[in-house]
Amino acid sequence: MTGAAVPLLDVEDVRVTFGGIVALDGVSFSVQRGAIAGLIGPNGAGKTTLFNCISRIYQADSGSIRVDGKPIFDSPIHGISKVGLGRTFQNLALFGKLSVLDNVLIGAHARTMGNFVSDALRLLGMRRRETALRDEAMALLEELRLDDIAGETVAALPFGTQKRVELARALSAKPTLLMLDEPAGGLNHDEVEEFKDVVRRIRDHRHISILLVEHHMNLVMSVSDQVVVLNFGRKIAEGTPTEVQSNPSVIDAYLGSGHETEAH
Ligand SMILES: Nc1ncnc2c1ncn2[C@@H]1O[C@H](COP(=O)(O)OP(=O)(O)OP(=O)(O)O)[C@@H](O)[C@H]1O
Ligand SMILES: [Mg+2]
Repeated sequence: MTGAAVPLLDVEDVRVTFGGIVALDGVSFSVQRGAIAGLIGPNGAGKTTLFNCISRIYQADSGSIRVDGKPIFDSPIHGISKVGLGRTFQNLALFGKLSVLDNVLIGAHARTMGNFVSDALRLLGMRRRETALRDEAMALLEELRLDDIAGETVAALPFGTQKRVELARALSAKPTLLMLDEPAGGLNHDEVEEFKDVVRRIRDHRHISILLVEHHMNLVMSVSDQVVVLNFGRKIAEGTPTEVQSNPSVIDAYLGSGHETEAH
């Protein structure tokens, strides 16, 4: 490799306002390929807003975001899975009446949809591809230990399991950057421990970057290579988990907000 590696995600001076509220105020950071970056901060700090900017749900007032060197504000909103972004939502965004497998297949279709017309002309090719997609989806469900419930309706599952289905769906689109918004919500202590391994395994096997928003400090600090801390829309600290945990501004932000960190 020559010269400095282009970061997989490069957020530069991003500002987002909602009326009088400044949700993000000049936020900059970058994430290298293959890194797990934790994004933390008290409630209302701007974490989900940043995810929504990267996924083009919100429009930034100013600043730029590059994925693999390409400015994403230039690409159409429906094209985000094609620039390699996959995400889960804080409050879930699944098709509740569909099965676990169908929800994952929808994610895989988002990746392959561009070739639909040409594939329709080659029916056999399409059938083969359907089978391949199904096999891939089942392999993913196995990896996330969801294969036993592949046929179950999503709405009937516990919240923590639905979060895992959403993760499987995001992965089925083969993202190069996976963004997880509070993936450990609804998980018990043992499940959180298991989830740490899941996150590491996903990164190690696919060599993708992961941006992880979590209030569960123990999880963030044990899986992240780098942690970015937001408070009131501003980046107040960035560094290794150890650096960030001993940073006085970070301690103040959490104690001052009365926010409860889960220190399991
Ligand atoms: N669509 C919107 N309209 C108006 N204000 C918004 C909107 N989305 C976010 N905000 C505001 O922007 C700020 C940042 O919110 P955001 O949801 O990004 O915080 P967060 O860090 O994800 O918090 P939490 O940990 O509670 O999920 C808050 O003041 C919030 O009220
Ligand atoms: Mg949020």
